[in-house]
Amino acid sequence: MNSERGMFLREFLRHPMRTAAIMPSPPPVARNMAAAVPETGDPLVVELGPGTGPFTSEIQKRLRGRGRHVAVELNERFAVRLQRRYPELDVAVGDAVQLRQILDERGLGYADVIVSGLPHGLFNHSLQRRFMEAFQTCLAPDGRLTAYAYAHAVWSPPARHFHQLVHTGFAEVVTGRIHWTYFPPAYVYTARYKTQPHHVESDAPEALVTGQTATDPART
Ligand SMILES: C[S@@+](CC[C@H](N)C(=O)[O-])C[C@H]1O[C@@H](n2cnc3c(N)ncnc32)[C@H](O)[C@@H]1O
Repeated sequence: MNSERGMFLREFLRHPMRTAAIMPSPPPVARNMAAAVPETGDPLVVELGPGTGPFTSEIQKRLRGRGRHVAVELNERFAVRLQRRYPELDVAVGDAVQLRQILDERGLGYADVIVSGLPHGLFNHSLQRRFMEAFQTCLAPDGRLTAYAYAHAVWSPPARHFHQLVHTGFAEVVTGRIHWTYFPPAYVYTARYKTQPHHVESDAPEALVTGQTATDPART
């Protein structure tokens, strides 16, 4: 077992509920998760729950030194390891539900992309709603959220609630294919933020800025 997997398993045994998996996400899932990071410009990318960093590595590859990458991790052991491995990364040790405060403390505004490695499909409904509020106060208009879900839990009430929240809170939601050959099989949501009134500078009626239909961002 490599050191990354070994550490992940140890942290799972210490904190099973919040670690929520026994091994890090595989590269194909990580690539899907990081695909929303723009390949040009200087985006602000926020990563939640990086763990040992499979998504971090893909995000860093796409950024190639551009923009800013902030990672928020509750587990201090993961955070310390990640900061050591990626000195250019800004790692905040804390609860990602406090994301607005974490960005404010850094003088940062709205994120272009939030890559969430959190186990949203295992959270209770109230915590899922708090995360949705955090996303909506932290994402730029047209910002992207990527999050993943486990295929084996897709019909569980929390997973269905999260699915519904993503579809009602975001203008475009694309559900990626299930990666069956990895354990646990997982798939990725990529969602474009539905602009909310606090982001709108004109006095256009809300319906004009929120009445979007689901389309594939890859085609827009
Ligand atoms: C399922 S693991 C995913 C780790 C990594 N993204 C991956 O895909 O391999 C969930 C991660 O989220 C972290 N986490 C759980 N709740 C959190 C919270 N409220 N705020 C920040 N990180 C949290 C855990 O410590 C763990 O690193």
